[in-house]
Amino acid sequence: MLKCSLVLSFAVLHTDLTDGSDVTQTPKLWKNEGENGTIDCSHTKGVDYPQMYWYRQLPGEGLKQIVLTTSYNKPDYQPDFSKEKFPVTKPDAASGTLTVKDLVAEDKGLYFCAVSKHSDTDSLNR
Ligand SMILES: *[C@@H]1O[C@H](CO)[C@@H](O)[C@H](O)[C@H]1NC(C)=O
Repeated sequence: MLKCSLVLSFAVLHTDLTDGSDVTQTPKLWKNEGENGTIDCSHTKGVDYPQMYWYRQLPGEGLKQIVLTTSYNKPDYQPDFSKEKFPVTKPDAASGTLTVKDLVAEDKGLYFCAVSKHSDTDSLNR
């Protein structure tokens, strides 16, 4: 059986609000089709930054928001993305994970996390 390797690459999204230097994320994950890929993101900005955004960028596409997570509310998914395919955890203000389940070739791409202080997201949703 032919196994196809997928690479999910991760980077921290820099925003105008923060320089990104105190946010860390799993750098690169190699997975086979059918596996689940989990990405960790954490930051040291403190409890003032409870919001964590997850984005992905597929080859030839723009940046798309998957979900907004907070430690105090249910995850807020964008219409194109489901909690079954992209389950998240947000145990506290400083950390969170995104899982991409049942990987298929089309999931290969760049995944980003970004943290923010409040829901001022317009500059990220271009
Ligand atoms: C992916 O996760 C689901 C449940 O969350 C599990 O049933 C499945 O076995 C996992 N797949 C692999 C390849 O680990």
